[in-house]
Amino acid sequence: MLTASLTSRVATAVAHPNIALVKYWGKQPGPGNLPATPSLSLTIAALTTTTQVEAAVRDSIRIGGETRPEPKIQALVDAMRGIFELPPMAIATDNDFPTGAGLASSASGFAALVTAIDATFALRLAPSARSAWARRGSASAARSVFGGFTTLCERDADWTAAELLDKEAWPLEVVVAVTDESPKAVPSSTGMERSRATSPFYGAWCESTRTDFAIACRAVTERDFDTLARVAEHSCLKLHALMLSSRPALVYWNPATVAATDAVRKLQEAGTPTFFTIDAGPQVKAVCAPGYGEAVADALAHVAGVVRTVISGLGSGAYVR
Ligand code: DP6
Repeated sequence: MLTASLTSRVATAVAHPNIALVKYWGKQPGPGNLPATPSLSLTIAALTTTTQVEAAVRDSIRIGGETRPEPKIQALVDAMRGIFELPPMAIATDNDFPTGAGLASSASGFAALVTAIDATFALRLAPSARSAWARRGSASAARSVFGGFTTLCERDADWTAAELLDKEAWPLEVVVAVTDESPKAVPSSTGMERSRATSPFYGAWCESTRTDFAIACRAVTERDFDTLARVAEHSCLKLHALMLSSRPALVYWNPATVAATDAVRKLQEAGTPTFFTIDAGPQVKAVCAPGYGEAVADALAHVAGVVRTVISGLGSGAYVR
């Protein structure tokens, strides 16, 4: 058992959500929350989770000012207690964007949580170790420990994330078109287990995602926007085909989601370098070549049903404030 240092007893960490360009959807059997496939993402600077962890007399978890039981957070803290001697702690976390609505709040949430626990109790974890702990809370959170373009795949017999390309090396922009801020009806973990168990396309999804991952990683390192656009839209549409072919079907889109993807296609036809991606929620994220964010946001803001747009650059990994 590793004893946590008692010198620093409170710390605050900040993390940004990330959006996958090659999606993770499906887990390996067994413990550890290991994905069935590799994934590649962008970290989003404009959306932020801030988490404070403080030594306390008993465990408590406050999200957005409301204290409530959070089994996934508690389970991760308890799992860390299997390795580190951690005292009871008060966790307080806030998102400056809608929670559980397909904007990757669990990614930034678990990345910020592990980073704050590490700092509060001076565990001195390497970023890859923080990433592996964050993954146990939510696999996409492994990626939010890092910034810019990040991969999550098997390395050194574990599944941890790593930065593939620095945010400054290719400063793409992302427009988030929000169409509905309500929490999703089916959480991702439940949805992906349903797809694994019931979709006839699940095997093809896993196999083709490995190829998409290799193509997309190469496109990022070569800064090849057109190839990245093609493979990312294909990964997104395959994910939603998988969801639609699950039983009962997982339908995360609404009419404004479809209208916003049509608007992105029109922009593409007019020569604007942009492509869309959509996660487990009805929001559309348009990734744009540097300098095109404002024009794309302007077009998406005029789509019926889009309630607001956010323009973002690429963000950094999780850090202590
Ligand atoms: C569609 O990481 O939220 O956003 O590991 O069960 O917590 P758990 O799932 P989660 O799933 C993310 C699904 C996705 C695609 C992605 O981010 O790769």
